[in-house]
Amino acid sequence: MSSIWKTKTPSQIADAAEHTQLKKNLTAFDLAALGIGSVVGTGIFVATGKGAHLAGPGVLLSFIIAAFTCGFCALTYSELACMFPVAGSTYTYSYVAFGEVIAWIIGWDLMLEYLVSASAVASGWSTTFIGLIQSAGVKLPKALLTPLITLDAEGRIVRGGIIDVPAVVITLLITWVLYIGIRESARINNIIVGVKVAVILLFVFLGVRHVSLANLKPLMPFGWKGVMAGAAIIFFAYIGFDAVSTAAEETKNPKRDVPLGLMLCLGVVIVLYVAVAFVLTGIVPYKQIDVGNALPAALAGIGIRWGGALVATGAIVGMVSTLLVTLYGQIRIFMVMSRDGLLPPAFAKIHPRHRTPHLCTWITGIATALIAGSFNLDIIIEMCNIGTLFAFILVSVGVIVLRKTRPEVERKFKTPGVPFTPLVTIAFCFYLMASLMKVTWLRFGGWLVIGLVIYFVYGVRHSKLQKAAQEGR
Ligand code: ALA
Repeated sequence: MSSIWKTKTPSQIADAAEHTQLKKNLTAFDLAALGIGSVVGTGIFVATGKGAHLAGPGVLLSFIIAAFTCGFCALTYSELACMFPVAGSTYTYSYVAFGEVIAWIIGWDLMLEYLVSASAVASGWSTTFIGLIQSAGVKLPKALLTPLITLDAEGRIVRGGIIDVPAVVITLLITWVLYIGIRESARINNIIVGVKVAVILLFVFLGVRHVSLANLKPLMPFGWKGVMAGAAIIFFAYIGFDAVSTAAEETKNPKRDVPLGLMLCLGVVIVLYVAVAFVLTGIVPYKQIDVGNALPAALAGIGIRWGGALVATGAIVGMVSTLLVTLYGQIRIFMVMSRDGLLPPAFAKIHPRHRTPHLCTWITGIATALIAGSFNLDIIIEMCNIGTLFAFILVSVGVIVLRKTRPEVERKFKTPGVPFTPLVTIAFCFYLMASLMKVTWLRFGGWLVIGLVIYFVYGVRHSKLQKAAQEGR
């Protein structure tokens, strides 16, 4: 039993890093673009509407609070990312800091941050796409555009339609792209980032002249509680900035480039988001914001239909890239877990021609499509956020623990003010988690229990680390 707490040593992680042979040619600017590419998506284009319903115009403050939380997370996350610049993200760090069973739990939890998040992006893509084609006069059967499980006005689970077909189709298309091994090159990513930033600026530019200060009053119709409930949802819009840290292995100078790339990415994103929140709640009374299609519908509402269509088109292109990056991240984590023996070897099997982990890609893609097609966006986002916030809490604890247990390992980037900064990060993350719905906590607890059962039924018996320990290596 004690062996389930067995930790990996930093040198075991370093060995893995040497074997990856990735090119080390990314700069801080590339990292920031990578970050913006995976961060800007459904959160700002769609979930802003839900955030505004919960917080009122105070969603502006929700964006700032969520940004602070992310800033702190980024500071703590960067230390571990530079200490172990390898694939696998928080899962890999936890293996060293806390041992195998916690690493597994984190790996399992990261499915919420990547796989479930990819479902959320697909779901948001679908509502934007549907909004766009409906505004062009195309009529489609509602049952095939609505997920099976949805929420009523009071937030209770009710039966919706049959399946969200566009969400399923886009997910399977992207899965196929990943299967045949097309990855977004840095150049394509930079172009897509340009498109996303351009449509956000377009929205702000077109909308700002129509802002009516009357819409912004009262600022906090649901008080501080509403602002926090909004922040707990809006946090989703910032998820993905850790893509910057996970690419640390491919940077020229991680010590300088990772924190710089992270701060640059967050800085740009915060300014854009706060501007969008201000303009959106300024042009539409918050109760009338369209939760499925917030930005385009707001522009159409003030008579700028072409602007709405353009923003929707840019958002659709941009969200595809977010979906691709998020799915790719999940596949990479599954591969690392499979190499460690915690998941079946099939997850790390490489296709002879395409040189991609084909089985893992399809399993991940189909699971993502099923979730996206079956569940309402709000349910998916809540699960994704609670899982991600939990992972960041563990990262923060990991920074404190590793300073004590592994002081000898070189830290190319040191989180300033340890233990204060990680403790503040934990407090912020916990506060946001506490602002999510009670039922989300129950679902999250259930998810972790299922994970533990799988570990004790499968992982513990197949783990390479356990086998090596038994053989006395
Ligand atoms: N932050 C990403 C998005 O908003 C996940 O789509």
